[in-house]
Amino acid sequence: CLWIRNLALKKRLPGPFAWPLVGNAMQLGQMPHITFSRLAKKYGNVYQIRLGCNDIVVLNGYTAIRQALIQHSTEFAGRPNFNSFQIISGGKSMTFSSYSEQWKAHRRVAQSTLRAFSSANSQTKKAFEQHIVAEAMDMIQNFLRLSADRCYFNPSHEFTVAAANVICALCFGKRYGHDDPEFRTLLGRVDKFGETVGAGSLVDVMPWLQSFPNPVRSVYQNFKTINKEFFAYVKDKVVQHRDTYDPDVTRDMSDAIIGVIEHGKNNMLSKDFVEGTVTDLIGAGQDTVSTVMQWMLLLLEQIDKVVGRDRLPSIEDKINLAYLEAFIYETMRYTSFVPVTIPHSTTTDVTIEGFHIPKDTVVFINQWSVNHDPQKWQDPHIFNPSRFLDENGALNKDLTNSVMIFSTGKRRCIGDQIAKTEIFLFLAILLHQCTFKSNPSQTLTMDCSYGLALKPVKFTVAANLRGKLLGLVS
Ligand code: HEM
Repeated sequence: CLWIRNLALKKRLPGPFAWPLVGNAMQLGQMPHITFSRLAKKYGNVYQIRLGCNDIVVLNGYTAIRQALIQHSTEFAGRPNFNSFQIISGGKSMTFSSYSEQWKAHRRVAQSTLRAFSSANSQTKKAFEQHIVAEAMDMIQNFLRLSADRCYFNPSHEFTVAAANVICALCFGKRYGHDDPEFRTLLGRVDKFGETVGAGSLVDVMPWLQSFPNPVRSVYQNFKTINKEFFAYVKDKVVQHRDTYDPDVTRDMSDAIIGVIEHGKNNMLSKDFVEGTVTDLIGAGQDTVSTVMQWMLLLLEQIDKVVGRDRLPSIEDKINLAYLEAFIYETMRYTSFVPVTIPHSTTTDVTIEGFHIPKDTVVFINQWSVNHDPQKWQDPHIFNPSRFLDENGALNKDLTNSVMIFSTGKRRCIGDQIAKTEIFLFLAILLHQCTFKSNPSQTLTMDCSYGLALKPVKFTVAANLRGKLLGLVS
């Protein structure tokens, strides 16, 4: 075990006392990233916890995490062989499979296809932007409908549909109505996906919990159903594409992925990796973007509260869009809504900050701790978009690059650029077209539910048109 290895090397990995059977599972609490940061104050930025039968290393803070994910990028690029990870995307997920030559080929396919359809040249950039604009306008119409008669509504579903539609438009060349029942049911469930794959989920580390009825077992069973249904839905679309595939016409990303995997030169990936790739991309591309949109709306309401509605925020005129971007970065930093990455594992023995970590150790990367590291940020607990602006009102790129929400190193999110474009355009269009009002009968709170993504507890708003609605889409 880790402890004996480090004792032999005279530098024992520190960490809290672990109880038999459960280890430290009962100490994680509702918000594991906060517990991890608290433990880091006591044990340092690299320490060990035990969850069920697994020794897990937790990495915290800007320095230790960069040392691991950048300097030792290969050593920390693995994924644990958790049972739940084998279920995702029909067992052919790139996101949840460990580091190997096959994974590298798979990641290359996913990354290059995404790039080809979103940023490869000015034409694809424009086409991608048009998808987002169309979704934003459709979303606004729905917002206005839901706000009719002074009603307040919870925007989470509309954000999820909009984000899912952008990625579906890329993958299938098709978007879905906000009220399409099949799509709605599917998306409603995917929301629960993060409960199982977030760090601190107990389904994989305590297999004995599967043998009797308890909440952990129910979450796992639910997870299996969600994945089966979601995969079946995507597979059906991919099969339709395969049946009508024409090598001379690439209709969308599904065609492009079929082209590379089934008709390309590299035969490292079998045909069923096509379904795996498309499921990965659709799965990753909606929940995260819709979550950050919800946080931004909630935080905007807070700005309204601070600035008030009867004075103009003068800084906005002066540094206009830089401030909007600063607001987005500050939302990502402050909420750290993906507080801990998908669990990693070590691919070989490795030493971090003098501590020996053996091959195949599960590693949790606490992104929240980087974004709240007092060595890096002044008053990290205060929401202040201006921290990203220099004295001329320009965006400080060094500082925006220090926000860690897409992870870093070999496992860095491959959707970061398309996510940033979506978020920026969604927000700019929403604010350009609408004003939002929080529900006076509701107290604004930053409380959230924990999973791979932290989601704000349900809140409602009302949207009002600021002028004439531009560029209506039917
Ligand atoms: C992985 C964040 C949007 C595709 C990840 C990881 C994080 C993350 C933290 C895990 C990295 C690790 O384990 O170290 C986010 C955030 C997003 C976002 C905050 C939005 C604001 C997207 C979008 C797509 C995407 C839009 C694709 C359309 C992926 C994929 C992986 C990944 C495929 C797996 C990478 C791998 O394991 O090699 N993302 N993501 N993400 N993301 Fe994103």
